[in-house]
Amino acid sequence: MVAASLVEFAVRDRSCTTALARFRRASLDDVLAIERLVAVAARGLSREDYSDVQIEAALGSALGVDSQLIRDGTYFVAELHDGLVACGGWSKRMTLFGGDKDPGRQPSLLDPSSDAARIRAFFVHPDYARQGLGRAMLALCEAEARSSGFTSTELVATLPGERLYAACGYLAQAPIEHTLPSGVRIRFVPMRKQLTLETGASDVTGGPRT
Ligand SMILES: CC(C)(COP(=O)(O)OP(=O)(O)OC[C@H]1O[C@@H](n2cnc3c(N)ncnc32)[C@H](O)[C@@H]1OP(=O)(O)O)[C@@H](O)C(=O)NCCC(=O)NCCS
Repeated sequence: MVAASLVEFAVRDRSCTTALARFRRASLDDVLAIERLVAVAARGLSREDYSDVQIEAALGSALGVDSQLIRDGTYFVAELHDGLVACGGWSKRMTLFGGDKDPGRQPSLLDPSSDAARIRAFFVHPDYARQGLGRAMLALCEAEARSSGFTSTELVATLPGERLYAACGYLAQAPIEHTLPSGVRIRFVPMRKQLTLETGASDVTGGPRT
């Protein structure tokens, strides 16, 4: 397994100085802070793609914390100045997306020899968007999935997420119109990627562009 607590990633903080965000495995003590980050990221970075009604309906259901990943040790947070700036993970279980309160959890284990690992629940604080945190976290997840024997990954992307994953080699399938528990409909995009032996290794570290 990749030692997530050892991965550091340089970002520009609010005062425009370079600071190190530290990726580590999430713990159950992080759940409240992760929930806050999910809401801040969804509200701050999804408005070009979704209405406020869709965003609020998705928070706590399709967009939320899946504590199973935290218990599995496959969910990461990036910490900066004692606050969380990014979270995201991968999964060896069937569930494709959604938090604890989303219906349709499928906790059965995937078979790495035939199934694709899941990429799950990526969120970056708007103050730190477009600095490479999403790409670095994805590389970390892919490298771990690869070292657990998976040769491909799949996910169900939000429309903002689709741009990150497309930039990282994911191929989009036909969009789906997902009905949230409240009845509100929202567009998501299933995506897949074939992993290579080198997957992730070179992208885990990095820093802000000048
Ligand atoms: C999707 C998200 C996690 C991306 O995080 P990020 O740290 O800003 O992404 P990165 O900086 O690593 O971006 C890597 C590449 O992805 C693409 N990309 C990411 N965000 C983009 C955007 N808003 N517009 C266009 N391209 C984008 C670019 O190619 C980018 O490379 P570049 O900045 O060198 O051009 C973040 O926007 C977010 O939290 N969105 C709201 C929550 C959400 O929908 N999460 C996805 C759940 S599936």
